[in-house]
Amino acid sequence: MNTSELKLCRLVYFSSACAHLTDNDVDAILDEAIPRNGKCGITGLLAYDAFHFMQVLEGDEEAVNKLYMGIAADPRHHDVRLILYQRIEERRFDEWSMALAKLPDVPGKYIDKLYGGFKPQLFSPEDAIKYFDMLRHYLQRAA
Ligand SMILES: Cc1cc2nc3c(=O)[nH]c(=O)nc-3n(C[C@H](O)[C@H](O)[C@H](O)COP(=O)(O)O)c2cc1C
Repeated sequence: MNTSELKLCRLVYFSSACAHLTDNDVDAILDEAIPRNGKCGITGLLAYDAFHFMQVLEGDEEAVNKLYMGIAADPRHHDVRLILYQRIEERRFDEWSMALAKLPDVPGKYIDKLYGGFKPQLFSPEDAIKYFDMLRHYLQRAA
């Protein structure tokens, strides 16, 4: 990834998945996201547990803002709530244009450390970053 960008930012949100969304629909979101994010230099992680999404996006501020506007209007989820938005000097989640962690697949030792599970509605900005750190660790080991 290009580290010479001037206006890097990090955005984290969570949302409620549409009731009829299937695992294949979620895979399709990722298939769509990877090449698009690659083109505009966005990196991040998407967590999904059949009820909620939580996503971290990092990249150029304009690109992240534009993508977030599109994501917030996407009918595949609703009640999109911003958890964190900050300017950053360096990316923390730069390994993937977008990675997906389906939480039923993630062992409890990773996901139970905060609030006994995945409860993004209770997460502070710091909790959300801790959670993504755990998922990144899990995904790296699972690769
Ligand atoms: C939970 C969720 C996460 C998404 N993440 C991304 C993403 O990281 N990158 C992306 O390009 N699209 C993502 N999308 C899809 C976008 O909402 C949108 O469909 C896509 O950017 C195409 O938008 P457009 O048709 O307005 O160009 C996501 C959708 C959902 C529901």
